[in-house]
Amino acid sequence: MTQHARTDLADTDLLPAVGAAPAVGDDGAVHTMQVRDVYKSFGSFAVMNGMSIDFTDNAITTVLGPSGTGKSVLLKHLVGLLEPDAGEILIFGRDIWDISENERYEIRKRFGVLFQDGALFGSMNLYDNTAFPLRKHTDKAEDEIEHIVMTRLKEVGLEQAVGKFPNEVSGGMRKRAGFARALVLNPDIVLFDEPDSGLDPVRTSLLCDLIMEMHAQHGGTYLVVTHDIRSARKVSDYVGLIWHGKVVHYGEADEAFASDDPFVRQFLAGDSAGPLGMD
Ligand SMILES: Nc1ncnc2c1ncn2[C@@H]1O[C@H](COP(=O)(O)OP(=O)(O)OP(=O)(O)O)[C@@H](O)[C@H]1O
Ligand SMILES: [Mg+2]
Repeated sequence: MTQHARTDLADTDLLPAVGAAPAVGDDGAVHTMQVRDVYKSFGSFAVMNGMSIDFTDNAITTVLGPSGTGKSVLLKHLVGLLEPDAGEILIFGRDIWDISENERYEIRKRFGVLFQDGALFGSMNLYDNTAFPLRKHTDKAEDEIEHIVMTRLKEVGLEQAVGKFPNEVSGGMRKRAGFARALVLNPDIVLFDEPDSGLDPVRTSLLCDLIMEMHAQHGGTYLVVTHDIRSARKVSDYVGLIWHGKVVHYGEADEAFASDDPFVRQFLAGDSAGPLGMD
């Protein structure tokens, strides 16, 4: 179990002064990220159906669920790109839809997000892609930006490829560049949407190592959404399972992987036999 003291978590420079009292979780603590009884439908299709989860701070949580169960929709809610039909998304104890657009924007800067395909700008090389959030959101001088960008690109093993464009590098390199870019603003929260998709098992394993190394080094609350049980087993401190629009299990990874519960077992073993069906 990795738990890291986060010295800069108390740094609320970027946080707007919002009057609302911080929300408290079931365990009596304020959490970095909380989803409270969230409902979301697209047309008549209910994707989130009373979903609740208090993410454990300064740990790596993996959320697993079958395709189309709303994992990406959950990430978009957390980062404030989608608004719930009902329920609350609390970031640092604040309901992000009960504050101004400006305040929501400031909170968003505390997230690093690695989208499924890396979401790099095709017209920029890896250096400029990585520098982009610093140029957009800070007034740092170019030499300071260069120092941060090169440090991050070295950490992900891309210092030799800084001048390359996204279409000139492999899928794994694009993901690592996306990861470097997600970290340049020293985020308190990092979200990964299927970081392992499209990678071979060796590269998946290397990317998992990198996620764990970066977490050990920088701390923060990490959320990894994946289908891949092996990745989940490797990186998770905590595991959440989504089924039919709800979180049906959330707890320590060691316990989840050792669970006797037939539902949790089938889920984490990826078995076709068991209580889970195709519906
Ligand atoms: N903006 C949208 N408009 C309409 N329907 C949407 C929208 N976003 C998501 N959906 C629907 O919501 C459901 C959940 O989508 P989501 O992308 O969150 O699934 P997922 O769990 O991430 O799946 P996968 O594992 O395949 O990535 C899907 O049926 C999808 O078609
Ligand atoms: Mg998805």
